[in-house]
This record gives sequence, C-alpha cells and structure tokens, in this order.
Amino acid sequence: MALIELQNVTYHYPYVKSAALQDISCTIEEGKFYGIIGENGGGKTSLCNLLRGLIPHFYQGKLEGKVTIAGTDVMEWDTGKLAAKIGYVFQNPFTQISGIKETVFEEIAMGLENLGVPKKEMVDEVLRVMKLLNIEELMEKNPNALSGGQRQRVAFASILAMNSDILVIDEPTSQLDPQGTQDVFEIIQMLKASGKTIILVEHKIDLIARYCDEVIVMQGGRIVKQGPTAEVLSSPELPELGAVAPQVSQFGHAMAAAGMPLDHIPITIEEAIELIQKQKGAAK
Ligand SMILES: Nc1ncnc2c1ncn2[C@@H]1O[C@H](COP(=O)(O)OP(=O)(O)O)[C@@H](O)[C@H]1O
Ligand SMILES: [Mg+2]
Repeated sequence: MALIELQNVTYHYPYVKSAALQDISCTIEEGKFYGIIGENGGGKTSLCNLLRGLIPHFYQGKLEGKVTIAGTDVMEWDTGKLAAKIGYVFQNPFTQISGIKETVFEEIAMGLENLGVPKKEMVDEVLRVMKLLNIEELMEKNPNALSGGQRQRVAFASILAMNSDILVIDEPTSQLDPQGTQDVFEIIQMLKASGKTIILVEHKIDLIARYCDEVIVMQGGRIVKQGPTAEVLSSPELPELGAVAPQVSQFGHAMAAAGMPLDHIPITIEEAIELIQKQKGAAK
C-alpha cells in the first residue's frame, strides 16, 4: 500500500530563487526500507522535510504538486498527529535535543509526555529504548553536555520511544564510530522486521546495499534514479549521478572492462564471493 505519495512536487525555500526540490515523484510503500543517497546539496534533507510534512507546515516557501500521506493531503494533516505518525531523526543531532530538559531520561520521555502516555508505561518505554541503544549510563546526564555521538543515540532513542509507523532518519551515523554505526543499522533492521516503514539518508553505501529494499538517488534537487537496491547500486551511471557505488560493484564493472565479466554486478561482498566461486567452479 502507498503510504506517502509525491506527485510532481517542486519546492522553493523562502527567498531562494532556485528550487530545492524539482519535479519529485515517488511512492513510499508500507513496510519497505528506502535509502536516499546522492551528493551534498542534492536535496536529500529537503526530501526528508517534505516526507515528514515539515515542508509545508514548518518551512514556508512555495510548494507545487501533490503530497499525500496515508491518503490525506499533507495540507490537511494536523501537525501534532503527523509528528506522532512519522518519527524524524534530524541530520544535525544538535538541533534534535530540545534544550529544555535537564536529563537524558526526561529528553527521551518528552515525546511520550506530549502524547499523554501514562507515567508507568512511559518509564518502561524509556528504559527499554535506552537499553536498546546502550545509553543507560547517560540517563542522569544533561543532554546539552553530550558528545555528538551520544546526542545521535539519544535523538534516535527519542524517536524509537514514540513508536511511530514511519521513520525518517537523516544521516544518523555521521557522528558514530563503526561499532555505533553497526548498532544503529541493526536497530533499523529490527524496526523493519517489526513492520515499520523506513526512509534513511546515509552515505555508508555498503550498509545501504546490505539493508535497503529500494534506493533513491538525488542530484540537483531531482530524483535522478530510483528502484530496487541491487538495480540502482549496480548501475554504471552512478558516479555521473553524483553517488558512490559500493566498492564490489566498482570491482564488478572493472572486471567486465578487463574482459572477465562476472555473471552480474554484485553489490555486497558476500554476493561477490559467491559469484566468483561459481565462476571458478565452472572454469574447472
Ligand atoms: N532551510 C533552508 N533554507 C534555504 N535553502 C535551503 C535550506 N535547506 C536547504 N536549502 C538548500 O536546498 C538545497 C538542497 O539542500 P539539502 O536538502 O540540505 O541537500 P542534502 O541534504 O542532499 O545535502 C541546497 O541548495 C540548500 O542550500
Ligand atoms: Mg542533508
């Protein structure tokens, strides 16, 4: 089922002459995991703002085309209800921290508090997500005193606690080390398994290759390519579109150019190993 439908959407931020989003059409289906990739300034965060209804409810400016969320035009959505339905982890973890709560615990509880969730339930839920993100020891800390990586985990925990159907997650691992990044991806994978719809902006292309169902490539405010992950990431035109292909895909293209093509272009290491083993077996 189509959860979010964008039809020929063009958007200008206020007082900006060029469009941040141009003629965007795409469908976000329930339960799928979407990766958004592409060059800096390509429009990825703006697309997130649109999918989350911040455009047009928070950002003014000029919006053309049609945005439908769960069957209702975005203009007709109540912003509070929209915020509960679609969780948003912002690109900059510093913007996400409210600045009005004195402990990490209260910060994570804030969204639930706003929804009027009973105290006991709220406490249980906050403890659950803190455990999940391995940040229990931050519970009493002041959110404003956290490092970038800690903020990113707290921001993520706040969103998980809300238990929204749809999650829009903009570069959640930019401040995290490889282990923290892996942890976040495992949690995202778990959310997907529980039926959530996920839209993730991420530069770590190997993780996109491994986990996403569909990939959207943005360049100059346009969607320049979209489709199933394997199809998009194995495309030879990816560099021209300002996106980086997985190294194994680049290897696959190089092998073809050297006259030793693999059966198809792999996008993960496991897939590449399997292909090469098969080919070696056939050559014997
Ligand atoms: N709040 C804003 N006001 C005006 N222009 C903006 C704002 N946010 C982004 N832009 C512009 O919109 C374009 C797309 O930016 P953005 O969506 O942040 O791209 P990305 O996330 O892919 O780096 C850029 O030209 C950027 O300068
Ligand atoms: Mg961005």
